[in-house]
Amino acid sequence: MSRRILQALERTRDHAMKTTLKTFLTIVAPLLLALPTIAIAKGDATAGQKKSATCTACHGENGLSVDPNYPNLAGQYQDYMIKALGDYRSGKRTNVIMANFAGQLNNQDIQDLAAWFSSQKGLQDLSAQ
Ligand code: HEC
Repeated sequence: MSRRILQALERTRDHAMKTTLKTFLTIVAPLLLALPTIAIAKGDATAGQKKSATCTACHGENGLSVDPNYPNLAGQYQDYMIKALGDYRSGKRTNVIMANFAGQLNNQDIQDLAAWFSSQKGLQDLSAQ
């Protein structure tokens, strides 16, 4: 092979490697870095069930409340409960009872509890029946 062709091949290979590296640094690496965050952010319903013993006293077994003073949590949207519990904890949403209970929860507890209650079968809309 002539020297010129070899040099051209070399350049092409360099370019291909640079492109691969660029793709890795701009797309793949940030995704890899984000993975653990996504994993942590997701609640664990099984862990949530274990943490829910105090909650069931008012919100009922599996989040189906038997007293109209206490809202049902079963089947509620997970992100709604995460927001509600965070707001009780910060004082943005005020309720003496829930401020006390939410104040004892860390972020992972909130994620887990929300995952557990949202995975439970909630009330059903019977209006069409
Ligand atoms: C002593 C009774 C009691 C206990 C125990 C209790 N809660 Fe509550 N919870 C309430 C009441 C009352 C409300 C309604 C407060 C309001 O009007 O904002 C409420 C509201 C909530 C809401 C918002 C519901 C909605 O529809 O907006 C969430 C989420 C919640 N509780 C989760 C929990 C979790 C998780 C626990 C356990 C760590 C827990 N609660 C323990 C009484 C209780």
